[in-house]
Amino acid sequence: MNDHTYQFVLTGLGNIGRTFLEILISRGDSLRRRYGFDLRCVGVSDSSGVAYDPAGLDIAAIVALKRGGGRVSALPKHRPDLSSAGMVALSGAAFLLEATPTNLQDAQPGLDIVRAALRGGSHAVLASKGPLVLAYAELAAMSDLAGPQGSPALRFSGAVGGALPTINVGRRDLAGATIDRAELIVNGTTQVILEEMAAGMGFDGALAAAQAQGIVEPDPSLDVDGWDAANKLVIFANAVLGQPTGLSDLSVAGIRAVSAEELRAAWDAGGRISVVGLAERQGDGRYRLSVAPATLGPEHPLAHMRHGEMGAVFYSDIIGRTTIASLEDGPMGSTQAMLRDVIEIAGRA
Ligand SMILES: NC(=O)c1ccc[n+]([C@@H]2O[C@H](COP(=O)([O-])OP(=O)(O)OC[C@H]3O[C@@H](n4cnc5c(N)ncnc54)[C@H](OP(=O)(O)O)[C@@H]3O)[C@@H](O)[C@H]2O)c1
Repeated sequence: MNDHTYQFVLTGLGNIGRTFLEILISRGDSLRRRYGFDLRCVGVSDSSGVAYDPAGLDIAAIVALKRGGGRVSALPKHRPDLSSAGMVALSGAAFLLEATPTNLQDAQPGLDIVRAALRGGSHAVLASKGPLVLAYAELAAMSDLAGPQGSPALRFSGAVGGALPTINVGRRDLAGATIDRAELIVNGTTQVILEEMAAGMGFDGALAAAQAQGIVEPDPSLDVDGWDAANKLVIFANAVLGQPTGLSDLSVAGIRAVSAEELRAAWDAGGRISVVGLAERQGDGRYRLSVAPATLGPEHPLAHMRHGEMGAVFYSDIIGRTTIASLEDGPMGSTQAMLRDVIEIAGRA
């Protein structure tokens, strides 16, 4: 990359997409100072359509529009003739940042958007999980992860636990070691609900409290029935363990059957109950994968996480035990993870 101004397109302008633009507004100068490059937004999209200008869009105006409940179709550079994927292909931008809703039926619109980017040579940085859960192998083969030399990069370090560096530690920092067991606690919502229930609230009240914090998926069953954690474990298994995995390869249980008595007993003993995504290496080298609530005794390295904190423990042959944890407030952590991916791809981390 010779040009020190990289063009990017951003699909999805909700919590994550809008926050990304806000970070650029507040941190643009320090990006330039610390890493020696600028980012120029040439295209955005939301559910109303696309705005595109190869000379660059006014990101402060876009943030103000979205904060005020406005739609991209109201922008002067609205392009009714373009889809999100069409804009990505036309732009030839250095980066796609993809933050449309996670759709586990067919992974759209994210999947076609990411395909268009990689096909056109744009690096793709994803917050959305659908394309990775349903089409990991296809996308990896189009990218630097498994494609021919010179393929564009595919990164998604914010898709598995926000800023918690689950993917980066697994792929990069444990490189050369064999992971024997990984325990991922990567659904912050159930962390909050179980904590509220342990403090005496009923399930419905605890769910409502989590919803009031704005951290529950629009379909709460994704959180409480374990599917959000399962999506993340699928991505982890493909990207870190190297085991081609789909949702049907996992056993998945949520928190509806966890009783107040069990929770209080775990807390009284100095531990807690958390939804754990577990990967256990078997004798044949394959991993058994499951998501279920588990009691963490007081000696467990993640037993004392509170307030929705997320974490992961890796047990590997030559390193031993590696623990990471992250306490985040809102979408900022996941959004920062997209920025760190961009900085890494630009070769400036
Ligand atoms: N929020 C988090 O903390 C977090 C953390 C990690 C990963 N993620 C993932 O990141 C993604 C974005 O999350 P979010 O919280 O920002 O979601 P969100 O607030 O619901 O925002 C989604 C955005 O996508 C837009 N959109 C919907 N359909 C579209 C389409 N067909 N084409 C283009 N844009 C479309 C929406 O448009 P409108 O503005 O018009 O509605 C909205 O701007 C999701 O996949 C989520 O799973 C989120």
